[in-house]
Amino acid sequence: MSPLQALLERSIRARAVLQDRLQAEGTDCWRVFHGVADGRPGLAVDRYGPLLLVQLFHGELQTGDLEALQSLADRLDLRLVVWRRGQGRGAPEVDSGLTCREEGQRFAIAETSPGLDPWLFLDFRAARRWLRAHVPAEASVLNLFAYTCSAGVAAARQGAEVWNVDFGRWCLEVGGRNRDLNGLDPERFHFWREDVFPVLWQLSGKGVRGRAAQRPYLRVEPRLFDVVILDPPTLARSPFGKVDLVADYPAMLKPCLLALRPGGRILATNHAAGVDREAWEQTLRRTAQKAGRELQALEFLAPEADFPSPDGQPPLKIAVLSAG
Ligand SMILES: C[S@@+](CC[C@H](N)C(=O)[O-])C[C@H]1O[C@@H](n2cnc3c(N)ncnc32)[C@H](O)[C@@H]1O
Repeated sequence: MSPLQALLERSIRARAVLQDRLQAEGTDCWRVFHGVADGRPGLAVDRYGPLLLVQLFHGELQTGDLEALQSLADRLDLRLVVWRRGQGRGAPEVDSGLTCREEGQRFAIAETSPGLDPWLFLDFRAARRWLRAHVPAEASVLNLFAYTCSAGVAAARQGAEVWNVDFGRWCLEVGGRNRDLNGLDPERFHFWREDVFPVLWQLSGKGVRGRAAQRPYLRVEPRLFDVVILDPPTLARSPFGKVDLVADYPAMLKPCLLALRPGGRILATNHAAGVDREAWEQTLRRTAQKAGRELQALEFLAPEADFPSPDGQPPLKIAVLSAG
């Protein structure tokens, strides 16, 4: 047995209970092998419906690795796909026809992508689970940095109306497929293909000012939402501003608070590994105070058991806050 084969067997045994539970609830996508936690940093192996997707974030596969992965794929009756960071993956797909399921909802997946990441982030399952369970039919939902709109689809589970905001054209096209795969009403599942900054500034009533106002941007009226989903990348620049979750979380959170109906809830994330939960919690509390919105409740959602963090500090932090 090769070293990787031994590690794979161990991780499969460790997650057997979780995998049974996921399958029983209508989920067929999960992390099979978690690089750091399972003994091979830089290597992640995920099941996505019919695919066994291997992502090599750094380093090289070692002798015997590919055979170990292929034999696992054969045993599970899955198709092996290997993605290496920095390497082309052939023609990008937007409509692959392939899907996976999570809590009975269907999501498009692909063997190649115009972007770097799979179309459904598995560590965000805990957040989508919360949205399915807690967003009622009459709610209005703003899904910022929507990517393929999977959080929007989860929030619409009970019938809520959702506005998905992202500047990525192909991401929102996949979002359209995800909407259709789940039979969601196009009249209640909207796409705003725009930079998040001008959209948020307008919704929160601040408006687009200064040099930013010279650029063309989508016009939207100020309005309040019952639920805001704020799941930004750690660091990103756009002509309108900079997303920097380490240096300036309030720049994102404050306008979200101002676009939230009293008693509404924000599901916010911070992916920055260098920001610990306590420090981020202080930032959330201080920002609410400065925005004049008192926090009525604040809870944290932990990533599920296929994303173990031996030090108890998962890089992905998910908070749900209610503001008065
Ligand atoms: C990490 S993904 C977000 C994941 C997503 N929330 C989910 O549930 O899967 C980051 C997304 O942010 C988008 N993005 C980054 N900066 C942006 C900006 N300033 N305005 C709009 N979209 C932005 C990218 O196009 C990408 O789709």
